[in-house]
Amino acid sequence: MVEKRPKLLLIINMKSFKSTAWLLPQPVLIIGTYDKEGKPNAMNAAWGGQWDMHEIIISLGSHQTTDNLAVNPEFTVAFATAETMVASDYVGIVSGRNTPDKMEKTGWTSEKAPNVNAPLFKDFPMTLECRVKQKIDESETGYYLVAEIVNILCDEKYLAEDGKPDVEKMELIIFDPIHHTYIQLGKKVGKAFSDGKKMK
Ligand SMILES: Cc1cc2nc3c(=O)[nH]c(=O)nc-3n(C[C@H](O)[C@H](O)[C@H](O)COP(=O)(O)O)c2cc1C
Repeated sequence: MVEKRPKLLLIINMKSFKSTAWLLPQPVLIIGTYDKEGKPNAMNAAWGGQWDMHEIIISLGSHQTTDNLAVNPEFTVAFATAETMVASDYVGIVSGRNTPDKMEKTGWTSEKAPNVNAPLFKDFPMTLECRVKQKIDESETGYYLVAEIVNILCDEKYLAEDGKPDVEKMELIIFDPIHHTYIQLGKKVGKAFSDGKKMK
């Protein structure tokens, strides 16, 4: 039997919080760029997502990365893992603007990405190669960056039997904006566009 509870009671059991950036879950994106001399840089971004089938969006502040994109509008987006977590956080709290050895500190190895003029950090299982398409609401504090996904690279170690990237193998981390922690993704629990059919 379905229990009938007055709506008021349900609201009393919920705690309210004022509006803030708590959309869940948030990715840990490592944005790789070259400066005007071709020196690699990386930053951490959580405010990003899929924009269209072949496009992503990132809410970008004013950083070394922003300076780099102004001279060279191509970049990579790697997905941070448990193994790269400490250095991924480091590139999110230190700027290439005032820390010339920022990338040396990470210990990451990079080479030029095959399809864009940006560094490919080889310590990550999967990376998007991207090109800036549009800067929305641009000001001196940053802009919303819409970028085309030119190509996707996945280390062969992380491929599933069907030849596509296997997310479960990657030990990806997400950002928890509530307690400012990183959480490792867990196990697959269902099949999208499929399990729901049981209820049709
Ligand atoms: C968890 C986390 C999430 C972040 N998300 C963003 C973001 O979405 N957009 C942004 O502009 N900066 C974000 N930052 C801040 C930049 O990563 C940071 O300012 C970095 O030092 C910029 O590096 P750069 O100046 O070398 O480019 C984030 C930092 C952390 C630690």
